[in-house]
Amino acid sequence: MHLENKYSMQNNKIIKGFSKLSKEAKIEWITKEYLNDEKEYVNLLKSYWHEDPKVQKIHDEFIENTITNFYIPFGIAPNFLINNKVYCVPMAIEESSVVAAASKNASFWMERGGFKSTVVSTTKIGHVHFAWYGDYEVLKNFIDSIKQKFFDETKQITKNMNERGGGILEIELINRADLEPNYYQLQAKFETCDAMGANFINSLLEKFSKILKREIESSNLSENDKKIVIIMCILSNYTPECIVRCEVNCGIEELSNDPNINNEEFAKKFEQAIHVANIEPYRATTHNKGIFNGIDAVVIATGNDFRAVEACGHTYASKSGQYRSLSNVEIKDGRFRFWIDLPISVGTVGGLTTLHPMVRFSYKLLGNPNSKNLMEIIAAVGLAQNFGAIRSLVTTGIQKGHMKMHLLNILNQLGADKNEVEKTKEYFKDKVVEHSAVVNYFKELRNISN
Ligand code: MEV
Repeated sequence: MHLENKYSMQNNKIIKGFSKLSKEAKIEWITKEYLNDEKEYVNLLKSYWHEDPKVQKIHDEFIENTITNFYIPFGIAPNFLINNKVYCVPMAIEESSVVAAASKNASFWMERGGFKSTVVSTTKIGHVHFAWYGDYEVLKNFIDSIKQKFFDETKQITKNMNERGGGILEIELINRADLEPNYYQLQAKFETCDAMGANFINSLLEKFSKILKREIESSNLSENDKKIVIIMCILSNYTPECIVRCEVNCGIEELSNDPNINNEEFAKKFEQAIHVANIEPYRATTHNKGIFNGIDAVVIATGNDFRAVEACGHTYASKSGQYRSLSNVEIKDGRFRFWIDLPISVGTVGGLTTLHPMVRFSYKLLGNPNSKNLMEIIAAVGLAQNFGAIRSLVTTGIQKGHMKMHLLNILNQLGADKNEVEKTKEYFKDKVVEHSAVVNYFKELRNISN
């Protein structure tokens, strides 16, 4: 069947101008057309509206077609000692064990000197991707001859950033005809100070492309050399020159205070676990996912773009040509050293950082960090998360900690009261937390027979 005919059979499910409807009208329409007109859904959606219409309006306007809010928990991981300063770190995440693990491992490392985080570099990058059909050397000489125009003609855009100490760092022609015939890039590097810089960079790149096209087309190059196709202008979320390194270290004998754990053996197994994540992409993916459990939660709580940070981290993990662990370990001269190098491009000004009330709260709680401090904090949380995951994996197994939180989730679903929660927790202290076992025990507690 032709697609149009197929759609016209469900005409009432298709709408033009949805974005122009009021919020109420949008809800009414989806309820009628997709939810059998069941009014309980209207109530559900409205029950998640903020009671203060002014606050709700802020959220409504973040995106198009907002009909309600979607909550995820906002938790705190206290006791993060990072560069000799203590932080209470805000984390927005739905996965039950993440904040618990971050807190536990923050305290663990606090007693061992804390996290040492250093920003290595802060350069951002973007490209005008274009096609050109002449000789590379001709193009190179031409771009060298007009390069200053890119700086001079964008002064209006760069003025404020220059005043803050940032701006365009360099502009270079990159020959990518090895990948695709006639494919070149005008590659620009930037310092964007406390801004993540996406708007700044993209505005500049679009202006660069116009200058490039104008200059080539109005030049006295040959007719063939005057042909240029601007494919697109966009920053790259891969920022291998915007790097933070975070490290913890301690004597091997300090690695655990659990008498059941032999520290030497633990250190060895830990090293093996990192090695496995380095050589085996199946493991590396899960290993790095655990790191991003911590990173994303802080990135979201501080109003930054977690998709950009994740995409960048995963590309960086593949920089050798194979996807590998983002963290590293060294056991030498009786000391355990564990570190991570991460490209993290975040901002502490602009975007959501000034608009979202909870994001503003996160910054207040963190003592209003600048973007470098925030990179340092984020890397520490990622490292703490990874340490906790590997420690569990090579000792007790991951389920023990996970299931403790899982137990609470099951009990919440069952509507358990405080007393029932305590009794169930006590009962399952030395047992496997299986959904059916929890339900059965809960029923016994309440004297409910099937
Ligand atoms: C679960 O969200 C994260 C872990 O799987 C990470 C890891 O395996 O290292 C526990």
